[in-house]
Amino acid sequence: MAMLEGKVAIITGAASGMGRAMARRFAAEGAKLLLADLQVDKLEAVVAKLKDAGHEVISESVDVCKTADVDRMIDRVLNEFGGLHVLCNNAGILDNLTPLHDTDEEMWDRLMAVNAKGPYLASRRAVAHMKDSGGGSIVNTASAAGTCGGRGGAAYTASKHALVGLTRSTAWFYGPHNIRCNAICPGAVMTAMASSFTPHAEGFERYSKYFPTVPPFGKAADIGDVATFLASDEARYVNGAIIPVDGGWVAY
Ligand SMILES: NC(=O)c1ccc[n+]([C@@H]2O[C@H](COP(=O)([O-])OP(=O)(O)OC[C@H]3O[C@@H](n4cnc5c(N)ncnc54)[C@H](O)[C@@H]3O)[C@@H](O)[C@H]2O)c1
Repeated sequence: MAMLEGKVAIITGAASGMGRAMARRFAAEGAKLLLADLQVDKLEAVVAKLKDAGHEVISESVDVCKTADVDRMIDRVLNEFGGLHVLCNNAGILDNLTPLHDTDEEMWDRLMAVNAKGPYLASRRAVAHMKDSGGGSIVNTASAAGTCGGRGGAAYTASKHALVGLTRSTAWFYGPHNIRCNAICPGAVMTAMASSFTPHAEGFERYSKYFPTVPPFGKAADIGDVATFLASDEARYVNGAIIPVDGGWVAY
């Protein structure tokens, strides 16, 4: 049987990169999907391809920081698919390696809103449903910057540490309700985020001193494959795990 047969999953940030890779693999493994993103045109292209291949996929234009958007997303999946078994809080943004002294309040608030508040809003609704429906799996895309100080700027690092904390708290509180919550901590993965950002000069200079210790770029599918395992019942005994998927970067 396919790994996610019979499961309904939401993936945020599914128009691009890792979210799109998760969507492709989840669909191939038999899941019904609600894909969410801000970039509607790119999202629709992903949905169209999956539908052409015969998969059951719907989409929502969602800003993960907005409560009304997140509520609409959860209501829609429950109404159309009759349940929710897997939530992937994957949408995220970068701070361009900006150090603390140049991090203005707007940047701080935006990073915390997308990378930490977004997963909080969606997880809050998801656990309320999963508690009463037999359980589920939440997969958060954190970062190597969620466990180390030298993998992003100040706001990105703080927001991903917050997401790691939310992951552990969710795992601890809701494990008894058969809800598992785990975080993937990608290293450097070649996606739009990694290829198109304009780094802060000082942050980049400091960061680049460590380039020789960074393993080769990973692929979005490397993350999608681990997310598939965590979403599936094969990970039934994995809860509260903060899993590096980084080619060994944080071990160096
Ligand atoms: N690429 C890397 O090297 C890397 C490393 C570690 C962690 N990550 C994390 O992986 C996740 C996926 O990133 P990616 O590399 O695939 O980047 P990406 O830019 O290709 O994809 C991110 C997606 O999130 C969407 N998004 C951003 N803000 C949103 C919002 N407010 N509401 C809804 N959607 C929103 C974007 O439109 C985009 O489609 C992010 O959480 C990122 O922080 C990336």
